[in-house]
Amino acid sequence: MTLNAPITDTPPAAEVERPTAQAISNFYEGMRPFWHPVLREADLSERKIVRVELLGVGIALARLNGEVRALRDLCRHFQAQLSLGEIIDLDGKDLVMCPYHGWSYGGDGQCERIPQLVAGRKIPPSAKVDSYRVTTRYGLIWVCLAEQPHFDIPDYPEWLDNSYRTVTMVEDEVTRTSSTRMIMGTLDDTHFPWVHEGILGTRDDPSPPEHKVWREGQYLVLQYEAEQPPNIATTDMSADGAAAQEKVKLVYTDYVGMPNVIRLVKDSVAGRYVVWLATCPNAYNRTTNFWAFSRNYDMQPDRDHAYEEFSAHVRSQDRPILESQRPWLIPPFWSQVELPLGPADKPLMEFQKWLEELGIVTQI
Ligand code: FES
Ligand SMILES: [Fe+2]
Repeated sequence: MTLNAPITDTPPAAEVERPTAQAISNFYEGMRPFWHPVLREADLSERKIVRVELLGVGIALARLNGEVRALRDLCRHFQAQLSLGEIIDLDGKDLVMCPYHGWSYGGDGQCERIPQLVAGRKIPPSAKVDSYRVTTRYGLIWVCLAEQPHFDIPDYPEWLDNSYRTVTMVEDEVTRTSSTRMIMGTLDDTHFPWVHEGILGTRDDPSPPEHKVWREGQYLVLQYEAEQPPNIATTDMSADGAAAQEKVKLVYTDYVGMPNVIRLVKDSVAGRYVVWLATCPNAYNRTTNFWAFSRNYDMQPDRDHAYEEFSAHVRSQDRPILESQRPWLIPPFWSQVELPLGPADKPLMEFQKWLEELGIVTQI
C-alpha cells in the first residue's frame, strides 16, 4: 500500500482481517525497547515462579534472594518451561530449577547446576537462558525485552500522592486486541456519547471538542474542555445538589506514555479524577490491562466499591467494540484501511503517526 493512495470504499480484505507475519514482526520489534507491565507485584509470592507472555515471548518471573528476576521461560537443555519448576537454594543462592532434568539458573540466566554433569567437567558457558530487565512500580512488575529502554516508565504522580485515593482493577481475561488499539480506544473521546451514553456524554451533543494536541518528552498530550452528565467520575455526589446538575464542565488532559500507557486527568469543580491504564502486549492480538483510578474527593474508603463498579461498567461497554476492530494491529497512518476524520480524530491520528515513527506500525 502506498502513501497518499486514493481512498476506496472497500479496503483490501486480507489486510482488514488479519495482519501479515511481517506486520506482526514489526509490531514485536517496535515494541521491544519499552517497559511493559506484566504482572501485579502481589501476584508473585516468594518461592513461586510465574509465567507471563510479552510480545509473544514466554517469561518466567521469580523472586531470587528477594529480587524480582525475569528469565526466558525455555530451558536451554531440552526447552521445557522453567516456570513449571521450582526455586532451589544452592549454597545460599536462589536458582530457578527446570522441572525436567534439574538444570538450575541464576537471575542472570546462567546455568549454575547440572545434576548429570560428569565429575571434573565444567558447566558450559552456553548453558544460559536470556534474562531481561525487570523493575517494579505502581504495584506492577515491568519488563523490557531490549537492552536499553527507549523511555522511562511513564509518571503517575497521583499514585504516590496521599491526598488521592486510588482503586485498581484487574481483568481476569485478556482482551482480544492489540495494546496499541487499547490505548487508542482510551484516548478516543468522540465515542463517549455513543458507547457511554448518559455516562461520559449524550447524543444530543455529539460535536467534537476543540482538541489541543502536542508532544512533551515521551508523552503525547491531549487537552480539551468537555461537558458530561453528573456521576462519580465528574462530581462529588455527596455534595448538596450534585445530582441535580444537568451537565458538569470539566477539562481533560490526557497523557499517553508512548506507546503503551495512558493517564486521563479529569479536572472539575469536584476535584481531580484520574483514569490510568497500563497495557501488556502479550501478543499482537492479546492484551492484559492494568487499571487504576485516583480521586481527590469523596475520600471515604467505603466509597471505593462505587468507583470500582463504575469503572468496570464503563470497561464492559468498551470491550466488545475494541475486540471487534480489525486488523488487530493499527495500520500505518493514512493507509486505505481506515478513514480518520479531521479535526475530530486528530488526537488518534497524532498517536498513530508517532507509533509509525517508532516503527511500531510500518508499511509492508
Ligand atoms: S529440559 Fe530443562 S533440564 Fe532438561
Ligand atoms: Fe470508552
